Order: sequence, then structure tokens, then C-alpha cells
Amino acid sequence: MIGQRMERAMNEQIMHEAGSAYLYVSMAAYFHAKGLDGMAGWMKAQAQEEVGHALRLFNHINDRGGRIELLAIDKPQAEWDSPLAAFRAALEHEEFITGRIDDLVKIAREENDNAAGIMLQWFVTEQVEEENSVARVIDMLELIGDSGHGLVMADRELGQRIPGPLPTVASEGEAAA
Ligand SMILES: [Fe+2]
Ligand SMILES: [Fe+2]
Repeated sequence: MIGQRMERAMNEQIMHEAGSAYLYVSMAAYFHAKGLDGMAGWMKAQAQEEVGHALRLFNHINDRGGRIELLAIDKPQAEWDSPLAAFRAALEHEEFITGRIDDLVKIAREENDNAAGIMLQWFVTEQVEEENSVARVIDMLELIGDSGHGLVMADRELGQRIPGPLPTVASEGEAAA
């Protein structure tokens, strides 16, 4: 059985993960409006993975006899100054999420909740990957600078991204990377 404090914290994290998906869908809409369909596709894949993160937490709460409570998501930002500014905002957001995951790990330790502690290790590793993948795009866009040709090439490359599978049940969630 999951403790009340962890149940509340994980329900909040479901909101943050769904909020991440909402933000990245908003960025996808921004990129489509700029004619950058590859970057829009990258953001849609990112959004789908965020839904997967929310479902992992959903499954964990549910499997441990807790109750899922969906909280309100804020309206996301819709405009950025440039593609680079949007990806920088995405990195800033991922750094915020990493801090939330670290807080969950701290709660797991304080509550002696080993089941949550083990499950959360996946998120700790995932956040390293999340920050790194966005930082690599930022590096690329900084190199490109104001080159329209470079932006078209980057857009084509980023459009290759394929999202990972969504976890439908907890056991699948643990197996899927
Ligand atoms: Fe996430
Ligand atoms: Fe993320």
C-alpha cells in the first residue's frame, strides 16, 4: 500500500508530466506555424513520451492500492522568439522536472518507501537522457546561427525521431525503455 504523502507527491508529478506533454504539444504547434514540421514532429514524439511518464506513475499508484487524482494543468506558453529559444525553454523545463524527481526520491527515502525508490530510479536515469537530448539540439541550433539552409537541414534531421512505446501496464512500463 502506498503512503499518503507519496500518493500525493506522485499525483502532483502526474500533473507535471502531463503538463510537460502539453508544453511540448504547444511547441509543436509553434514549429508547425513556422513551417518547421520536423521540429514539430520531434516535439510530438517528446510529448508522447511525457504521456508515458505520467502513465508509469499512474500504474505505480494504482498497483499499490492508491488513488489517482488528476490535477489542473496550466495553459502553456504558445510563442517563442526563435526555434533556439523554444528548445532553451524546453531544457529549462526539463531541469525543473529533474528537481521534482529528486524531491520524489527524497520523499521515498524519508518515508522508507523502497518500492517507490526503485521505480523512481528509472526517472532519475531518464532525466539525464532528457536534459542531454535537448541540450544536443540547442548545441546544433547555436552552431547553425542565422543560416536558413542549416535550419532546414536540422529540421529534417530532428523529424527522424520516433517515440518509444507507451506503458499500458506497470510490468510493461518497467520493461519499456
Ligand atoms: Fe517526463
Ligand atoms: Fe521530459
